[in-house]
Formats: sequence, structure tokens, C-alpha cells
Amino acid sequence: MASSNVTAWKPADASRVPETSKLKHLIESQQFTLPLLMELFQRTRGMERVVARGGTLEYQNKILANLFYQPSTRTRFCFESAMYRLGGKVLSTEQASAFSSEVAGEQVEDSIRIIANYSDVIVVRHPQAGGAQRAADVSPIPVINAGDGEGGQHPTQALLDLYTIYRERPLTGLSVAMIGELDRGRTARSLAYLLAKFDRVKIFFVAPQELQMKPDILDYLDERGVRYELESDVEAVIGEADVIYQTRIRPERVSDTHGVKRYGIDSALLAKMKSDALILHPLPRTVELDKSVDQDPRALYFRQAANGLYVRMALLTMLLDQNS
Ligand code: CP
Repeated sequence: MASSNVTAWKPADASRVPETSKLKHLIESQQFTLPLLMELFQRTRGMERVVARGGTLEYQNKILANLFYQPSTRTRFCFESAMYRLGGKVLSTEQASAFSSEVAGEQVEDSIRIIANYSDVIVVRHPQAGGAQRAADVSPIPVINAGDGEGGQHPTQALLDLYTIYRERPLTGLSVAMIGELDRGRTARSLAYLLAKFDRVKIFFVAPQELQMKPDILDYLDERGVRYELESDVEAVIGEADVIYQTRIRPERVSDTHGVKRYGIDSALLAKMKSDALILHPLPRTVELDKSVDQDPRALYFRQAANGLYVRMALLTMLLDQNS
């Protein structure tokens, strides 16, 4: 619950978010340098082998605290599984807005100060964009943003999205169509920042005009010379894209509710995609991704979610190693 004594959060000036070779917290995806990203992906390949062996006990003295103020299936279970696979332990509140002292009026800053005494890394999902930064600002231990607000970021989702693409093909020269509620899409926002790090990438932002990608992302891409197009017609670009990044689209947010289907993937649209396109979705899905797509060999979204385990294991080891 927002408090009147908390200054309203404004999006960070993305061009000023320092890239770093050493992470204390992970709040925004643009913190990653290219070498750090590649180091993470190398670690992630290693984690695939660790999981195949049944896990490790290397981090058995470490404790992860999950502080989720919003519902989650993938991210919360995935971080818990990642810590257990590393041999560590987990403290978790799955609905902090109902089962933490927020009910008694406690702000996230005080909760973090307390939980930091009992753990080595804190994963936060917060309803306000900027909520994870507020947590990091007072935390003596690493904080990971597991999604903040609508129009904030979800950097670990973007890392696993990018890793899924990286496992399939080179990241340079990619053509990516991002479709859905892009104005509030924290996963699409975080992924756009990461894609901007690679040469000759082109992004098609496909959404109804009222839900188009926000200017802060477009400014960031302009500053880096990244090519993009704003498009409202999926069919105009679907045949050009190497990667289709479909995201949620809620009918109530589209002024022409009968037209919401125009922004979804079904068997008719599949026929117009490249034969080797990669179809990703951060999930959960509703009307925008028909179940008939699941059987198509280009559909990668369940593997994408599975990759989250390896990526989050790698990220946890990186943060724990660099800050111990
Ligand atoms: N992709 C994602 O963040 O899913 P959850 O809301 O289930 O964590």
C-alpha cells in the first residue's frame, strides 16, 4: 500500500543508470555491461550441468528471503527452487500485503532492514514502480527486483528471456517483435534495455496506439542508435521477426475491445511467421496466446520458464560471490 509520506517515484534516467562490472543489487536490466551479461550466461550454462547432477551444497550456509507483495507463480517458485538447488535455504512470504507487517502500516524500507538481519539476499516483488529501488536503498545485502509496479522493470525475467534466445542463435542482428501492453509491460521494458546492448538489433513495438512503448525506452534506444519501429498492425511485421515476444493484453485496456484478438497469436498468425521464428512469452497468458500454438516447434515459452531456474541460480551465485 502506498504511503503518503513516501515521495512519488519517477523512472530513473536510464542513460544515467551506471553499468557496472560488479553488482550489489539488481534493480534495472541496464545495469548489466555486456561482459557481465556474458559472465552470467557462462555461469548459467554451468548451472544447467549442476541441476543435471542433482544440485550442489556449495551455498548451504546462505539464506534467500522472498518478499512478494504481489502474486506470482513462476518467479517466486523459481527463486525458491534456485536457492534449494544451490544448497541454500529460503524464507518466504507469498503475499506480503496480507501476511507481513505491511498490514500494520510498515513500509518496505523497515521490512527490508529487519529481513536483512536474517538472510543473505532478498528478492522483492512490489506493486509500485521504484519499490525495489526503495528496498535496495536501505539494504546492506543484495536486493533483486522480481518485478516492480506496472511500467517498472522485471530484470530477471528479461535475463531468462535473453538467455533463451542466446541458446538458439546469435544475439547480434536480431529482429524482435514485442507485442502487447507495452506501456506497462515491465518484462518488455527490461528486455528492450538488454537487446540495446547488441549490434544491428531491430525492435518492432506492436501495440494499439494507447498502449505503445513509453518514451523513456525509445529515448534510450535513440541514444544508442538502436533501430525500432512503432507499429499497430501485427501482420505488417510478423513475417520479418526472428523473435516474437508476445506479452499480456487485457481486453479492458484496449479501446476497441473487439480488436484485442488482433494482438494475439493463433494458428492463422503462425502461418505468417518465419519458419525458424522463436515465440516467447513471459507468462501467465490469457487471450493473447492460443493454446493451439503450444504444439508448434517454434513455441519456446515453457522452455523459457524452465531456463529461469538456471539463470536465477547463476545470478544468485554472482551476487553472493561478489558481495560475501
Ligand atoms: N513471468 C512472471 O513474472 O510470472 P509470475 O507472475 O508467475 O512470477
